[in-house]
Amino acid sequence: MNSKEIRQKFLDFFMKQGHKVVPSSSLIPDDPSVLLTTAGMQQFKPYYTGEADSIKDFGSFNTVSIQKSMRTSDIDEVGDETHNTFFEMLGNFSFGGYWKKEAIRYAYEFITKEMGLAISYVTVFRGSDIAPKDEESKKIWRLLGVADVREEGINDVFWGPTGNSGPCGPTTEIYCKNGKRRDVEIWNVVFNEFFCDSSRDILLNGGVKLKQLKKKGIDTGMGLERLTMISQNVENIFDIDLFSPIIKKIEELCGKSYEDNAKNFRIIADHMRGSVFLIGDGVLPSNIERGYILRRLLRRSIRYAKLLELPENWHKEIVKTIIENYKEYYPELEQREGEIINAIKEENDKFCKTLERGLKELGKIDAVDAEKAFYIFQTYGFPFEMIGEELKKRKLFIDAKEFQEEFKKHQEKSRAGLEKKFGGHGLIMDTGELKAGSEEEIKKATKFHTATHLMHQALRVVLGEKVRQMGSDINAERLRFDFTFDRKMTPEEIKKVEDLVNEKITENLEVRVEEMPYKKAMESGALAFFKGKYPEIVKVYSVGKFSKEVCGGPHASRTVELGKFKIKKEESSSAGVRRIRAILE
Ligand code: SER
Repeated sequence: MNSKEIRQKFLDFFMKQGHKVVPSSSLIPDDPSVLLTTAGMQQFKPYYTGEADSIKDFGSFNTVSIQKSMRTSDIDEVGDETHNTFFEMLGNFSFGGYWKKEAIRYAYEFITKEMGLAISYVTVFRGSDIAPKDEESKKIWRLLGVADVREEGINDVFWGPTGNSGPCGPTTEIYCKNGKRRDVEIWNVVFNEFFCDSSRDILLNGGVKLKQLKKKGIDTGMGLERLTMISQNVENIFDIDLFSPIIKKIEELCGKSYEDNAKNFRIIADHMRGSVFLIGDGVLPSNIERGYILRRLLRRSIRYAKLLELPENWHKEIVKTIIENYKEYYPELEQREGEIINAIKEENDKFCKTLERGLKELGKIDAVDAEKAFYIFQTYGFPFEMIGEELKKRKLFIDAKEFQEEFKKHQEKSRAGLEKKFGGHGLIMDTGELKAGSEEEIKKATKFHTATHLMHQALRVVLGEKVRQMGSDINAERLRFDFTFDRKMTPEEIKKVEDLVNEKITENLEVRVEEMPYKKAMESGALAFFKGKYPEIVKVYSVGKFSKEVCGGPHASRTVELGKFKIKKEESSSAGVRRIRAILE
């Protein structure tokens, strides 16, 4: 079966069992304590805790999705048989609908009957001081005829929570054999029974008391790549149809064979695919947070591309191949193809310069320690692995462990920054874009929100259609707006944008909202910022005939309420992205 058929089979199977199909959410999660979307359940967290109602939102207790996911903790394993950074996760979910018996039966039926595969063995939770042994699952598996049921501990078969808190519970995992007859974990069926008010690290350290969840439920996750590998009876995830066009393209570009250079090919294929999806969701390379993850993926790809002596502009060809492969399911990639190629080209050029400078600096060093190596790493963005290789050539060594310590310090610093940004306000409103702590603040922020739409459109009128929203952050004092544009705006352009917004304010345009299917909204030319999940039915806000955007609101009802609009600052936010701060007087 090819990956396309498997995707459809999975959705069809669960639809038949009364699940509602929900589109993948963005790789940028709503939960600010998590950098990336690592699991299908993240977008559904509020349905387990009772903050949201699945009947109201999906018309069902049960959902099914294919979720874009990214896990970089295993980045160094990429190139082996089973690891990817980016992957698609097939998942079925229930929020107070069904429980263990049905969840296990569905998984069993899907694997053995729909896919026609044999289950090698399964695992269940052996119990610990926080939760009892999962006898029930063991019994259910045995009744289904699966004899090899292995008990494992909290590190392996207890899921969650993601972020600072969330649902968690014991899991049962399914293992099947790949083309090499090796057992591979393919499906994780989670029984979210508890709520944990701390992070997973704290949970694993002990001393946490779990509460019962409001809506105990099911969360399952199965990597499409691994399932396809088992189904196609190959021994490596890179040998499946999702990767073969990329591998073929690399072969074509460098004239070298995949067999002789497998690891290098696989790393490029994995990292470039991940990068395309990250940029497709609005991430750009930088030195912190998500931007840093993207930078690392890109720079590793570039490094391996150099090793394979890929020609200049190699990235363009590879990006196009990836987008061609995925655009049917992820139209945002095709819509952003130009931006994706540009961002990668820029990073490529920057990194090549960096390498030259870093090599020069390294050449000056004759005695090295971890701190100095870290300095070069951070200042020049010179990859740690390459520092090691360069120094090795000259018979100088650094201590990898000490270097990791330096790195950890750096990570902690950026995490602290993140917490400061989002921590501790007790906000009464936080849409991700708009934050307010009182009714009064909501009123002000709402005006800024409408002003943001006007400004977005004004920027497109003055600077051209290539202006695209990359981020927006609104509070009661100001709006902040990030958008793609490749140079500083001139004072004249700033003035023109201000004047146009103020003209529209004076015209006292009406703000209208309409609900329509997402597809229709796109066809009508509404702008959309691909940040969060977009449900099938979306709200489209129009300001007169001037602006039209897919948006969750809230907005002012007429533009005259806004007052006078003024841009306070226009600056660079990151490569190819400008940032405007503006106020209403
Ligand atoms: N949340 C679990 C996982 O990601 C099951 O979906 O593995």
